[in-house]
Amino acid sequence: MSDEETQLEARLEEQDSFEPPASFVEGANVSDPAIYDEFEENWPECWERAADLLEWDEPYDEVLVDDDEPFYEWFTGGKLNASANCLDRHLDDRGEELAIQWEGELGETREFTYEELHREVNEFAAVLRDLGVEEDDVVTMYMPMIPELPIAMLACARIGAPHSVVFAGFSADALATRMNSADSEYLVTCDGYYRRGDPLDHLSKANEGLEDAERETTTVVVDRLGDDLDHELGENQHDYDDLVAEQAGAVVEPVVRDAEDMLFLMYTSGTTGEPKGVKHTTGGYLSYAAWTSHAVLDVKPDDTYWCAADIGWITGHSYIVYGPLALGTTSVMYEGTPDYPEKDRLWEIVEDYGVNQLYTAPTAIRAFMKWGSEYPERHDLSSLRLLGTVGEPINPKAWKWYYKHIGNEACPIVDTWWQTETGGMMITTLPAIGEMKPGSAGPPLPGISAKLVDETGEEVAPGEAGYVVVDRPWPGMLRTLYRNDERFIDEYWSAYSDEEEDEWVYFPEDGAKIDDDGYITILGRVDDVINVSGHRLGTMEIESAVVGVEGVAEAATVGGDHEMKGEAVYVYAILEDGYEPGEEMEQAIIEGVEEAIGPIARPEKVVFTSELPKTRSGKIMRRLLEDIANDEELGDTSTLRNPDVVEDIQGKVSGD
Ligand code: WTA
Repeated sequence: MSDEETQLEARLEEQDSFEPPASFVEGANVSDPAIYDEFEENWPECWERAADLLEWDEPYDEVLVDDDEPFYEWFTGGKLNASANCLDRHLDDRGEELAIQWEGELGETREFTYEELHREVNEFAAVLRDLGVEEDDVVTMYMPMIPELPIAMLACARIGAPHSVVFAGFSADALATRMNSADSEYLVTCDGYYRRGDPLDHLSKANEGLEDAERETTTVVVDRLGDDLDHELGENQHDYDDLVAEQAGAVVEPVVRDAEDMLFLMYTSGTTGEPKGVKHTTGGYLSYAAWTSHAVLDVKPDDTYWCAADIGWITGHSYIVYGPLALGTTSVMYEGTPDYPEKDRLWEIVEDYGVNQLYTAPTAIRAFMKWGSEYPERHDLSSLRLLGTVGEPINPKAWKWYYKHIGNEACPIVDTWWQTETGGMMITTLPAIGEMKPGSAGPPLPGISAKLVDETGEEVAPGEAGYVVVDRPWPGMLRTLYRNDERFIDEYWSAYSDEEEDEWVYFPEDGAKIDDDGYITILGRVDDVINVSGHRLGTMEIESAVVGVEGVAEAATVGGDHEMKGEAVYVYAILEDGYEPGEEMEQAIIEGVEEAIGPIARPEKVVFTSELPKTRSGKIMRRLLEDIANDEELGDTSTLRNPDVVEDIQGKVSGD
């Protein structure tokens, strides 16, 4: 490193706040700090600004109806169709502009103008109808990052059939659970996809899942791999291309949906073993995804925008599909891994497509940092105007690396905190307003009333840590858990609401700190959810997979700190008599978890123990196991029924 560079590094290391670059502020969609007050003074009508980004078939009567809290309704009486908002209304002005630019892992490309995407979506909507899909039928999708995924989602939206996308990396079991929970009778999947250049069989996994499906299922299979993988279709399974060919040129009128009609379901992990079916609506969700894409990601129609997440997660729903397409921009979609064939793949894509905004996860940034700055340096990244992160806390070191080596100190970074349940971003700086503080997400967005409280619900003072709560509704919020209103109230509203006073407070189950400027630094989940590389995994789901392995009597899982992944899965297992701890059992447990959930949940470490630390009432002390995993000072162990076990486990964790 030259002296100059060393000095620069030293300066960056010390600097703990950054002003938005002037070059960015000039052209930003939102740059007037008065927006915070405007929203505050005019709440909830301020949210008309979000609704105005959409085209409504019939105007709404009321912005917010809160007669039956916490079952809020947004833009009631309004009617619209999400697919028409993402496609049809752009046709006149932007029909020939690119909507999606797709790149496969092997380097092949496919492009869709708004017109072309519109055609594909219409044809597939006709296919779905022909197969018998009716309004409000849930269609499950189990697909990797191929264009047919957004096409199928928008086709569903067009005919008013909610989609439920299951991440392709999830296991067959996970697919079956989600299909059964949603009573879904339709599945769209594919034969396979490429990972690090090798074709990967996906259909067998889907078929394995279908064996456990409770309902008879009609399946559509996309042929992604061509001759690279022969596959046979079973009964009730159809080839995507064949069906679409039959519908060539079909036009399907977008079904007029009520603002509060369900747009999609998205399953996510929670405290108990059963995944939660988060319900999002057409009017509120779509306007919120569009508004946050506009205000936070600064998306403009002429941009080339890239969110490098997977559509199988909420980030991809809101910020690859719905937000950017609602705004009529060009969205880049990449199928593969960031280090194939080389570690500069992402930077090559940024350069080739002239990407203006890049939105990715801290775990990826930490990997780029480890690989080294020589990879981005090989490419011209000057098209970038804004950078974003999502999914987990970003450490200041990674933030600064991103700022310097990817953004060339000329791009604001938005560190966006939100959840599957919130539909869109909630806490982040606006990129042209206010300073950025590495590691801290920032203040709540205009109109969002997020606060930090202590256990009793009192707001904490600046400098202190507390729990994040949101005490006013917002358009993108989940409306309920699918067919489970009770669990919806229980999971999100029971901790801090005062029913008698009719005060409803949403609890996202995250801990955080707040500073004098009202900037919120997210510390992480306070429930039994582990955040591995920005992916949410429930400890109970993993534990039940471990206990399902032959020979395991009892198990506990916790998240241990991990340099790259943020958190990693630690398993503590007690074996039945007659089973020996050792490599074989460890392997069986790892495989059991991969099979039940997927490779993302693969345990980092398996510790065999004869007992688990328990309170006198018999509850496993997971906190303690977490401290042990992180080699941290242990708190009070006197409430344990079996304090001796702690030392034993500590020895096993640090012993190898
Ligand atoms: C965590 C992903 C810190 C948080 C959009 C939240 C974050 C969970 C951030 C939701 C961030 C998300 N900083 N933590 N910028 N963004 N999280 O539902 O713990 O997959 O509760 O939604 O991710 O994960 P989910």
